[in-house]
Amino acid sequence: MHQHFPHLIDLDNYPVSTWNSIINLAIDIKRNQHIYVGACNGRIMATLFYEPSTRTQMSFQSAMLRLGGGIIGFDNPATSSVAKGESIKDTTKIASSYSDIVVMRHFIEGSVKAAALTADCPVVNAGDGGHLHPTQTLTDLLTLRAEKGALSGLTVGFCGDLKNGRTVHSLLKALSHYENNKFVLISTDELKVPTYIKDRITAYGKEYIEVNSLEEAIPQLDVLYMTRIQRERFGSPEEYEKQKNVFCLDKRKMKAAKKDMIVLHPLPRVDEIALDVDDDPRALYFKQANYGMYVRMSLILSILNEDIQTQPLLVGENIPEIKCHNPKCITASEPSLPHSFRNNNGILECEFCDERILTEQCRFI
Ligand code: NCD
Repeated sequence: MHQHFPHLIDLDNYPVSTWNSIINLAIDIKRNQHIYVGACNGRIMATLFYEPSTRTQMSFQSAMLRLGGGIIGFDNPATSSVAKGESIKDTTKIASSYSDIVVMRHFIEGSVKAAALTADCPVVNAGDGGHLHPTQTLTDLLTLRAEKGALSGLTVGFCGDLKNGRTVHSLLKALSHYENNKFVLISTDELKVPTYIKDRITAYGKEYIEVNSLEEAIPQLDVLYMTRIQRERFGSPEEYEKQKNVFCLDKRKMKAAKKDMIVLHPLPRVDEIALDVDDDPRALYFKQANYGMYVRMSLILSILNEDIQTQPLLVGENIPEIKCHNPKCITASEPSLPHSFRNNNGILECEFCDERILTEQCRFI
């Protein structure tokens, strides 16, 4: 079987103590950058981006260059052998044999985990479809630590496309681990947070409420996390048209917010934050993007220095008779993958995309 590397597919691959160490190291790197120049001399990072990216890709590349390492890869699969029909598995296998760390973004849920199964070096998930985005979450955690001074005791509002927003999923899961956090989930009925994430919040003893008015929610928030409606994840242009422009944070709404509330956004922004909010000192989204570079320097360094314990990627059971029924899951397009499910109190969860399969539907259980 595959070798174990400290892959980062989901933040749950690492214990919370490791997230905290990565954040602490990032704070030190930001303060004392000169010490880390050359820390990755002679090492190579491959960035394989099958989906558009500005911040994630550039901040990873800048992070590695600042550490003295080199970079290879592609951001347009049309110019690589992907255009000739090469599978994700083969491309990653080769890229991982040319490099010390692979950073990958792909539009299929669970695809980065699937690639990691056969890679010859650590693989980092830079976003897999509408599923997860763990390094954006490290960025968000660092921003909260630096700007709010804590990762606990916060009332955090999430607004926008909570169904398809992978940054929302990863951050909600992560913040549920810290004490006394509460969540206000602001969306339309169509774009609510997936049930498995809501169950995770509850399982960690945290509370959430679901509302549809940003205006009513804003006064109670310590943090407002705005997100873009994820046009590329919609089934049809008509469905997107119905959802766009529903939420817009503007100067008037900011008046009702606490004096020390901060506004975060993973970016890119479309029209969910009016330009006049940018001058408000509470608008921290550009600063947040800059923190992303330091946290990625810290992550690269921690992985390459082998400061992170490895864990098996698949912990559940391979049940060949049962298929994940999420059409966006990598198991739908790569038939050779195991049908691997975790059993979560009688509910089977696909280990690639987290889709749930109720056990009543499975005559085998
Ligand atoms: C996000 C993404 O790609 O998921 N951007 C990012 O990585 N900073 C958010 C988005 O695309 O809306």
